[in-house]
Amino acid sequence: MRDIDIKNSNLLLKYLDYRGIVTDLLCTNQDINKLAREEIYNLLEYPPDEQLGDLALPCFKLSKILRKAPHVIAQELQESLPASPYLEPPKATGPYLNFRFNPERLAKEVLVSILVNREGYGARPPKGQKIVIDFSAPNIAKPFHVGHLSSTVIGNSLYKIFSFLGYDCVGINHLGDWGTQFGKLITAYKKWGSQSAVEEGLIKELMRLYVKFHEEAEKEPALEEEAREWFNRIENGDQEALALWKWFKEISLEEFQKVYDLLEIKFDSMAGESFYNDQLPAVVEELKAKGLLKESEGALIVDLEQYEMPPCLILKKDGSSLYATRDIAAALYRKRTYDFTKALYVTGIAQSLHFRQWFKVIELMGYEWAKDLVHVPFGWVNLEGEKLSTRKGKVVLLEELLKTAIQKTLEIINEKNPNLENKEEVARVVGVGAVVFGALSVNRIKDVTFSWEEALNFDGETGPYLQYTHARACSILRKVAFEPEEHLDFDPKVLTDQAALKVIKTLYLFPERIMAAAAEYEPSLISRYLIDLAQEFNRFYHDCPVLVEEQTLQKARLVLVYAVKTTLAVGLSLLGIKAPERM
Ligand code: ARG
Repeated sequence: MRDIDIKNSNLLLKYLDYRGIVTDLLCTNQDINKLAREEIYNLLEYPPDEQLGDLALPCFKLSKILRKAPHVIAQELQESLPASPYLEPPKATGPYLNFRFNPERLAKEVLVSILVNREGYGARPPKGQKIVIDFSAPNIAKPFHVGHLSSTVIGNSLYKIFSFLGYDCVGINHLGDWGTQFGKLITAYKKWGSQSAVEEGLIKELMRLYVKFHEEAEKEPALEEEAREWFNRIENGDQEALALWKWFKEISLEEFQKVYDLLEIKFDSMAGESFYNDQLPAVVEELKAKGLLKESEGALIVDLEQYEMPPCLILKKDGSSLYATRDIAAALYRKRTYDFTKALYVTGIAQSLHFRQWFKVIELMGYEWAKDLVHVPFGWVNLEGEKLSTRKGKVVLLEELLKTAIQKTLEIINEKNPNLENKEEVARVVGVGAVVFGALSVNRIKDVTFSWEEALNFDGETGPYLQYTHARACSILRKVAFEPEEHLDFDPKVLTDQAALKVIKTLYLFPERIMAAAAEYEPSLISRYLIDLAQEFNRFYHDCPVLVEEQTLQKARLVLVYAVKTTLAVGLSLLGIKAPERM
């Protein structure tokens, strides 16, 4: 086995890739070589039943090309492929050719890679490409509610994932700071509000006014007209209207900042919808010049009937702009300013049509980069079964949600580990982690129902469970003052227990799983992965004592503990969750 010299290491930011190894092996076969390498690579799959093997080549597709039955191909390959030090001899099972990793080699390569790369395990070198991520984007003068939680935490996680993979990310908070809701709010303020009430109640008072407006407008539709007029005045630069708008925006921003501070989330740009105001006329001109604008009942639209979509509204009858107009302007601005390779938009699934429409408009404008605009939608967030809606006032403020989580965590710590140092800080990190993990634990398109009991269960499939497993691994390593560089000479041969092998195989999968999470814009692939890893590790820890007499065995098992601890911490950080060393 090759000895590893880290000083001159070719292991930094490079990872064992069994799909690549098996592909190379298969390419030595003249028949299979007819396929492109990438095609073979993509054919390989992880068998659902691990009894069969670690990686499999299904021979169905080859069967068409080689004009032989799949099971014949599998059999022939079994007999003819050259041996590899990384693999056991392959086995044909029906139409599949199954490969098994050489366990010793696997253990050595994966664990040394983690000892060497440490918190960089799974990272990739810089790519020199930009990815713009539009996320969070709460609406000013409306509360930051649990529905915005998904956008905020998914976007933040994608930001971390893509940065880890070597992209330069630009996080943009496209604040909803323009639009008819300001007309509504000013109308309500004028009718039922006062300066002192707003100064005192802040966002809660703004929310009360907003809800009140909708209640009253149901009875008295003329209010809608009044709201439209106020918004018009804002758009036309009316002093009074603008001053109120600015005031409401400041109050909201201060509120939002409290949430971002709790979550420790930062943005590279806070350019909200209003930022594009002075760029709108140019957009309208360009659309006109390109022959895309049509008049319809006094409004200006881009007709999308040909693409089986309702028209994209650009300017209303009264000349005011729309959400889509501002998104088009923002996209043009971002392409000019950042020259992105991709621009992601993280919002609720209810906005899918909106994005499909204006992405199409960009395409019709002749911009080939329209293909690089990606909507990343997510499902509804329910709290104890209730759908969240600002209009009816049935909202739980995100700040309250986070503070409750922190408070509940503190109670649990006081019960389980009252002498813990830094209790408040740990409670914050764990409480927030519980909420964030809750929002990232299922496929983003699925609806999430948030439940306290589930989110804070230290034994369930939760953030605190992962953090607790990490802290437990830290405590083992602390007992021996573990140093990674002193353990590079561990003996992988002694890691023969089933539970240990299973953990190592899962550790091996981490770099690949991060790539998949990026390719699918799906942080939950990492959350699921971490739960598997933690459960397997806890099984290992239960079956295999680590601090044993026998020094060779102890050393190797400690390396495994370190590898799990490190991978859990990296994985959690990619979700935007901190991993405290003590809990
Ligand atoms: N403010 C919008 C909302 O709360 C989300 C904005 C998303 N970003 C965008 N560029 N449209 O629904």
